[in-house]
Amino acid sequence: MSKPVSIKDLEDGKLINKPVHVFGWVKTFRSNRFISLNDGSMINDIQCVIDLQSSEVDINQINTGASIEVYGKLVESLGKGQKFEILVDQLNVLGSSNPDNYPIQPKKHSFEFLRENAHLRIRTKTISSVMRIRSEISYAIHKFFNENGFFYVHTPIITGSDAEGAGEMFSVSSLDKSKIPMDNDGSIDFSKDFFGKETHLTVSGQLEAEALAMGLSKVYTFGPTFRAENSNTSRHLAEFWMIEPEMAFCDLTENINLAEKFIKYIIKHTYDKCKNDIEFLNERLTKEEMNLPKDKRSELSLKEKIEFVINNDFVKLSYSEAFDILKNCKRNKKNKFTYKIENWGCDFQSEHERFLVEKHFKCPVVVYDYPAKIKAFYMRLNEDGKTVRAMDILFPGIGEIVGGSQREERLDVLEKRIEELDIDDKELWWYLDLRKYGSVKHSGFGLGLERLILFITGMNNIRDVIPFPRTPKNADF
Ligand code: 4AD
Ligand code: MG
Repeated sequence: MSKPVSIKDLEDGKLINKPVHVFGWVKTFRSNRFISLNDGSMINDIQCVIDLQSSEVDINQINTGASIEVYGKLVESLGKGQKFEILVDQLNVLGSSNPDNYPIQPKKHSFEFLRENAHLRIRTKTISSVMRIRSEISYAIHKFFNENGFFYVHTPIITGSDAEGAGEMFSVSSLDKSKIPMDNDGSIDFSKDFFGKETHLTVSGQLEAEALAMGLSKVYTFGPTFRAENSNTSRHLAEFWMIEPEMAFCDLTENINLAEKFIKYIIKHTYDKCKNDIEFLNERLTKEEMNLPKDKRSELSLKEKIEFVINNDFVKLSYSEAFDILKNCKRNKKNKFTYKIENWGCDFQSEHERFLVEKHFKCPVVVYDYPAKIKAFYMRLNEDGKTVRAMDILFPGIGEIVGGSQREERLDVLEKRIEELDIDDKELWWYLDLRKYGSVKHSGFGLGLERLILFITGMNNIRDVIPFPRTPKNADF
């Protein structure tokens, strides 16, 4: 008996004319003779050909969705569409499937329908391609940092501090909800809770990563992040994965340069390693766009967009420069933005970010030196006293993909900002300590994994690039 192999192992033809043994799930079964079989190891199915006279097969159970095991010989295929096929000697049905109610029929399903069947959608070509790409991107992220002298650190998921100060956090508690202990003043007595204080799921590992960078110099986190923002958009998840490098002795310019180098490396690595999947997604998108009116179609195909990003420098400009462009553009003057750009200091909405990237520069854009008022407390104040050393990287079709900054390393300035913003500093004593003992300039950023996957796969909705999405009113599976 030959050792079982993955369907991917058949691709290069090394096993031609040899006995092979594979497992998989039946995609289709035609003419009582041709099975398309897939095991997820690659996008293409292997065709298994049954000769009813010579093979031991009960064909009644070979239905779409069933799992089977096949023994046979790998031969060159005479048919169109595949190089090789398996002539089946023996086939065992491992798990049957009822063809009448198996949801993933061999036809086009809407993404909405597939989300309702998120436990089975991995068996479609599109979702399995996306998940293989997600895996390759994750590997490339570790590879990049490993090759560049960074240490992978694990920051807590349960935390007592609110890094972003946005207050959009999920609470973590083991209190019995039917008898919550109260203080005399009517507030919840968290001293009775598991940790003896109020705790939340983290919105960012940054503050702890900063502590670790103040000893290891170059670190990164890569983990799940939670935000209870009620944004029902195609770009927001309540649970998403973020990569956060943090570097001691590093200023904003070096931070921006690293982010650009990092993003290009990940995209190039994935483009080279996932050719078949990206080819498939490229065709999928091109076909889908054919259904759109001409002016809504992208000028570039998915592959062209990817190549463009790998081969071109990101445009870099300050918030004030971006503000002037937006304020003076025709679209703003004709009131075509939902939020008109009028006064310096306003936050850019995604419509503005996408205008800069898609219409004005037609290129990824880095905006830096944002007004202090719209950014987090930990960002380093510039000499002008009103902007901070923040940077956002904006991507075509997506908007913000990275948010980062140089951190405020001066104790007095940081304390003043915390006070001005009226932030409860009792959980931040240790963060302030870092400014007391060997403080150094340092910087870092956060990349949203799912947003990068959106870009590389050309998918439209962030819910389709994470296996089991968590969004408002949705935590099934
Ligand atoms: O800009 P953000 O909020 O930055 C931080 O959290 C910093 N602490 C990062 C740092 O400097 N270490 O988030 C960073 C990125 C965003 O640019 C976006 O790509 C992604 O995280 N992101 C989300 N992705 C999906 N769903 C959400 N709700 C997201 N919120 C942020
Ligand atoms: Mg941000």
